[in-house]
Amino acid sequence: MSIIVAEGLVKQFPGEPRPAVAGVSFVVEPGEFIVLLGPSGCGKTTLLKLLNRLYEPTAGRLLIGGVDARGIPVTELRRGIGYAIQQTGLFPHLRVAHNIAVVPRLLGWARPRIEARIDELLALVGLPQSYRSRYPRQLSGGEQQRVGLARALAADPALMLMDEPFGALDAITRSRLQDELLDIQRKLHKTIMFVTHDVEEALRLADRMLVMREGQIVQFATPLTILTRPSDPFVEQLVGAEDALRQLSLMRVGAALTRRSSRAESTSAAATLPPLRLDDDLRTALAQLLSSGGDALPVFEGEREIAQLTLADMRAMLRRSTVAAPTALEPTR
Ligand SMILES: Nc1ncnc2c1ncn2[C@@H]1O[C@H](COP(=O)(O)OP(=O)(O)OP(=O)(O)O)[C@@H](O)[C@H]1O
Ligand SMILES: [Mg+2]
Repeated sequence: MSIIVAEGLVKQFPGEPRPAVAGVSFVVEPGEFIVLLGPSGCGKTTLLKLLNRLYEPTAGRLLIGGVDARGIPVTELRRGIGYAIQQTGLFPHLRVAHNIAVVPRLLGWARPRIEARIDELLALVGLPQSYRSRYPRQLSGGEQQRVGLARALAADPALMLMDEPFGALDAITRSRLQDELLDIQRKLHKTIMFVTHDVEEALRLADRMLVMREGQIVQFATPLTILTRPSDPFVEQLVGAEDALRQLSLMRVGAALTRRSSRAESTSAAATLPPLRLDDDLRTALAQLLSSGGDALPVFEGEREIAQLTLADMRAMLRRSTVAAPTALEPTR
């Protein structure tokens, strides 16, 4: 069952000339990592706040887990939805452990269960147990973000709303936290709605990107589709599609392969296309893959099929290249 179904959601603030969210419809499946991308003021934050009912829609319908959100008591709804924001929203006068435990305490968990959960979450977000007794001001920005993430995860919500959670961080810390978040999401199968301004971050994290402009959805598709088939010049300009394609044309099939297949399994659609070679460029490979309609293409060395190249491989290559600059700055140990 879809975890989110939005049908014609509208949010009109009183006295505003135009609605902040102007009739959006979309469906999100459990376990998807959705990134909301769009210029400042396009309605990303408002849309997130509609999802956990910090705002009530002016019109439209919202189903969470198949149930009309209006029929779910707000406290119960929010219990199942983690919320992390850029300013972290940590309570300055509470120690780290207490900050993380806010929701479990609200829910009346027994003390040992809360303590165990704090241990588990600190480990998950990569903070030492000794930080339990620190105050937020005694942490770096990145560490505070981790605590914010731990807090959002505390009650094990199926759905996480994250509003530019890494916005204030330097490139290195940001890329580390992105990796950790991807890891966490894969491990725990969370559904994540993640807002960012940052195209590289969006490409790196998203299963699907929801691109917004002026309160509306202009495209909702995988990063690769958005890069290669932007729905209009706005999207194209926003994601710098040309740049990504240029990058792909500089990368080789051989460099993108993560594993070699043990047996030949060619797809029938691919059989009619010229075979891919290790030194073909990825832009060519992408064009072939898209025209094959499949999600993998066989790669040949001589007559022998040695691997399958997937969309995921190409995305991973793009990711690696987009983080190359920051990681190159990391001190070698
Ligand atoms: N409480 C409010 N009352 C009136 N107008 C609001 C309110 N909140 C947001 N808006 C307006 O609604 C529009 C969308 O705002 P929103 O915060 O959703 O944008 P955003 O996409 O999150 O932008 P940013 O990337 O800058 O965070 C803006 O024009 C904003 O001024
Ligand atoms: Mg915002």
